[in-house]
Amino acid sequence: MVRKIQVCMGSSCFARGNNKNLQIIVQYLKDNGIDANVELSGLRCCNLCSKGPNITIDGVEYDNIDSGTLIDILDKNFKG
Ligand code: FES
Repeated sequence: MVRKIQVCMGSSCFARGNNKNLQIIVQYLKDNGIDANVELSGLRCCNLCSKGPNITIDGVEYDNIDSGTLIDILDKNFKG
């Protein structure tokens, strides 16, 4: 089954961290050999800027992502 990660690329989320978070996700998928099984895409602003930066994994939304929590979230979803 193809998993799905969506990264908000709206200007607020992008400036507040998703520019770096996107790179971290790409690297994580490569390092763990799962890049072929995960569809990574960008989202436009979904009007949740105050909770950003936001990402969703298989439709589940995660807010206030920073580089530390991001790895934990990825581990939970892809190594658990
Ligand atoms: S920019 Fe991400 S929710 Fe608005």
